[in-house]
Amino acid sequence: MISRARYPAGPPTMTALRNLSASGNLARMPAFLASVARDYGPVASWRMPRGRFWFVDEPALIDQILTAGGYDVIKGRGLRRMRRLLGQGLLTSDEPLHLRQRRLVQPAFHRERVAGYAATMIEAARDAAAALADGQEVAVDALMNRMALRIAAATLFSADIDDEADAIGAAVTGAMSGFPASISTFAELLDYIPWHAATRRFRQARAGLDAIIYRLIEERRLDARDRGDLLSILLSTRDEEDRPMPPELVRDEALTLLLAGHETTANALTWTWDALARDPAAEARLHAELDTVLGDRDPVPADYPRLTYTRDVVAEAMRLRPPAWILGRRVIRPFRLGDWEIAPGSVLLTSQIVTHRNPRFWHEPDAFRPERWSNGETAALPRGAYFPFGGGNRVCIGESFAWTEAVLVLATIARRVRFRALDLSPIPLQPLVTLRPGRPVTMRAEARRVEVSV
Ligand code: HEM
Repeated sequence: MISRARYPAGPPTMTALRNLSASGNLARMPAFLASVARDYGPVASWRMPRGRFWFVDEPALIDQILTAGGYDVIKGRGLRRMRRLLGQGLLTSDEPLHLRQRRLVQPAFHRERVAGYAATMIEAARDAAAALADGQEVAVDALMNRMALRIAAATLFSADIDDEADAIGAAVTGAMSGFPASISTFAELLDYIPWHAATRRFRQARAGLDAIIYRLIEERRLDARDRGDLLSILLSTRDEEDRPMPPELVRDEALTLLLAGHETTANALTWTWDALARDPAAEARLHAELDTVLGDRDPVPADYPRLTYTRDVVAEAMRLRPPAWILGRRVIRPFRLGDWEIAPGSVLLTSQIVTHRNPRFWHEPDAFRPERWSNGETAALPRGAYFPFGGGNRVCIGESFAWTEAVLVLATIARRVRFRALDLSPIPLQPLVTLRPGRPVTMRAEARRVEVSV
């Protein structure tokens, strides 16, 4: 009988250490993981000081981790370290709290509820576009962030936080820029060095966000009418013993949803504008769809299903620049992955930015081709080949919210404005918790004039 190795081949530990977050720098990670897939195949494994790592670039196995893994696999260290900011919110909690909270929060994301948010999304996009003068130079990334934040606050909290948008943006950037240091090898020590710059920045950012979120909660407590939004759900829920949700948990869920609910979608939209600015043919086809479906009016929520090419543009932008670019899990109970036995303590890594370009599943993997989503090419894609929203029990709760927002915002703005890139050199990637652009995405806004046939 042929005995088989216990582990597949993988890079030497020293190489992995140099390229992973040990140095507190995530910039090299996407290219490193792509090279691991190229050199060692769809499943690779190597030793790290904290245990054995596996990198999986095989759709069927990615799907298995996300769906069959259930609560036998928990969030990896990166997201667990985010607990310092997000506490025990949906993104960072484990069972049994996670399951209970997920069921509780889910009604705020039901399809009909999301459809009800669509008008707010369109209004925010219309205001953003209307504020742009013809020829104005604008940082599109900042514009998208501000607008997505406004949408999240208005839909989930019935709150207007325009005045605080800059403070929130700065706090989120502060917390995110400290993220690589927070998962580096000696990160836990940093928490005990209050005067260290990264620790100080992080604490300031957290205090700023806390002040805003507790104010929103307090205002609602004083005026406790049920608005049917997320905040009402969190504040009105009672456990079996008729106790309300503890205030810290309300804070954790609210902050998680405010941050997760705008940062990712804003990035998806920014990368979409960047892709369109580089591809006049795709941009022209988008405009043609908008002119046909909308003519000279803004979209209404019911237009969503007819904006098919608009959706394909977003899908393709998220394939090449997935806002959530890596997913890590720590195995806590023995887990069988294909033919491999994975021991507790091991770390499973998957990466959208690598698998979304796997040449076995994608024709011309590096090309921006929205048409691939409608010409049959992607019809037979296996599950796990495209997973911008994750999957299984931890699938993004905001997935349909995000699609609705991205498509309707893109349609509303692109109908009125065309963004021209001022600098067509490639935008460096800044892979933090999300995949941010590594420099401001400054563009010139040009008014579009739509010829409407009568
Ligand atoms: C393009 C936009 C978005 C992308 C690409 C995205 C991506 C993701 C991914 C990949 C996960 C799974 C993380 C993991 O398994 O470790 C996730 C989880 C989550 N997302 Fe999103 N997301 C987006 C928009 C949103 C929006 C709009 C909201 C809320 C309004 C949201 C709220 C959440 C929450 C609360 C979780 C944790 C769910 C759980 O574990 O139960 N996301 N997201």
